[in-house]
Amino acid sequence: MERNREQLAKIAPPPMAMLAEVTHRCPLACPYCSNPLELKAASQELTTEEWASVFQQAAELGVLHLHLSGGEPASRRDIVELIAAAEKADLYTNLITSGIGINEKRLDAMIDVGLKHIQLSIQGVDEKTADLVGGYKGGYKRKIQLAEWIGARSVPLTVNAVCHRTNMASIPDMIDLAIELGAGRLEIATVQFHGWAIENRSQLMPTREQVEATTQLVADARERLEGKLVIDYVPADYYATYPKACMGGWGRIGINVDPTGLVLPCHAAESIPSLNFENTRETSLHDIWYHSPSFNAFRGTDWMQEPCRSCERKTADFGGCRCQAMAIAGDATATDPACHKSPLKNRMIELAENAADTSEQLEFVYRGR
Ligand code: SF4
Ligand code: FES
Repeated sequence: MERNREQLAKIAPPPMAMLAEVTHRCPLACPYCSNPLELKAASQELTTEEWASVFQQAAELGVLHLHLSGGEPASRRDIVELIAAAEKADLYTNLITSGIGINEKRLDAMIDVGLKHIQLSIQGVDEKTADLVGGYKGGYKRKIQLAEWIGARSVPLTVNAVCHRTNMASIPDMIDLAIELGAGRLEIATVQFHGWAIENRSQLMPTREQVEATTQLVADARERLEGKLVIDYVPADYYATYPKACMGGWGRIGINVDPTGLVLPCHAAESIPSLNFENTRETSLHDIWYHSPSFNAFRGTDWMQEPCRSCERKTADFGGCRCQAMAIAGDATATDPACHKSPLKNRMIELAENAADTSEQLEFVYRGR
């Protein structure tokens, strides 16, 4: 049955952003990689034409921002064509990259066909640390070089930094580095334990003292650098009072497409075993957004249990993160254990404290090594 705009709006507003994970291939091997343990093979990836159709459908659905991610999106030989297809669909395109695989000529080609914004990840503030964490020798120098080329072309740059126990002390240097590289925005996100990151939980889990000190440090830096650098900060929630509104609410703002065309309400949604996901190769993005049982599973508030069901914050944080509820409570409809009202809050704190409680510098476990 064909539904009109008003009927569809009752199901959900149109999505604003799409994260297109165009490939899982990546030259880096970050120990906090949130991609699934089982990566999708290159042979299964959507073709250029298939992605172009997805971008067109996304724009028709209402998507404004397209984030091209991976793996490393530049590992796709057709990355310039993909950006051109996104531009043709009238999407504002942001490339989220490690910087590896982009030379000056390729950068120019991407900008020429319509790339509007670049997010460059850094794994450390010096060559030794960055190359160790990224598991890629020579990576740091190439990132710095790319940032210089981007600056010379006046394309807006965001620096992305994942923070964890081993690098939280260097956040002031990360802020300085972002300014030095000409970034207008720095995104500091505390490591989230999905996918491969779970393998390195003990190596990466920050202590409560570190989290509190970082929160203060970021607040001070925001004030000091107002008008010069915007700092987005995703704090760790293990020791927090309330959870974050993960994805801005399930099926509310964003839509993720994996390298093979599987459409997910969030990056880690495949960790919820009760859900099945549709593929753009068989079902239109429109039908998936509005009618997929997986997208509708945690929309609105009807699915909630207590204490969320009668909580005044239920339309502010939407009960937190469904994947974290699944991972810790074993139930995706449970209150996110990061919330102080969850009966599992103490268990979550204990889990974090136990993982962070080591004076040894543990070695990272790298994917495929
Ligand atoms: Fe959010 Fe649920 Fe906690 Fe209320 S009880 S603050 S809705 S997670
Ligand atoms: Fe899936 Fe938070 S990561 S809902």
